[in-house]
Amino acid sequence: MPPSQNALLAALYPMGCGSGRWPSPARTEKYVHSDSLDFFRWWAEEEPGPIHLLYLDSLDYHDHAAREAHHSAEAEAALPFLAARCLALIDDTSPSGEVDGAPTFGGDGLRAIPFLLERGFRIVWAEAGQVLLERDVAAG
Ligand SMILES: C[S@@+](CC[C@H](N)C(=O)[O-])C[C@H]1O[C@@H](n2cnc3c(N)ncnc32)[C@H](O)[C@@H]1O
Repeated sequence: MPPSQNALLAALYPMGCGSGRWPSPARTEKYVHSDSLDFFRWWAEEEPGPIHLLYLDSLDYHDHAAREAHHSAEAEAALPFLAARCLALIDDTSPSGEVDGAPTFGGDGLRAIPFLLERGFRIVWAEAGQVLLERDVAAG
């Protein structure tokens, strides 16, 4: 298991212990090694349930346009499966300014963020190169 996944597990285990609000990660966690878009095609076929937290941080290489396009494609592929109330966290993305009073972003979320904003998401936090968006359909 890569170190980052160990860190994720370490972060999840304390939340799972004792609170009574979280299922045990030991029973529910599963790692899938796959192209992310193939993964969403699998999700569409298997319908394992709604996605409550979408974390986009794929691709290592330095082709910025390709990374922006891939994150946008991932957001688009995930959209049908996102829960009515859900979060989307996008890495390697920072505020770049404002257009007509609306914040703009540069980095991997350059295209994914406008895509999600146009579909009912709002930005709740942007710091240290990460942007967190939320959608709560029930809240409007
Ligand atoms: C910038 S790293 C981020 C990894 C992890 N989130 C972290 O913070 O350590 C990008 C990851 O995307 C993976 N990756 C590359 N192409 C991918 C693809 N098409 N689908 C899913 N993951 C991909 C790479 O293997 C690498 O682990």
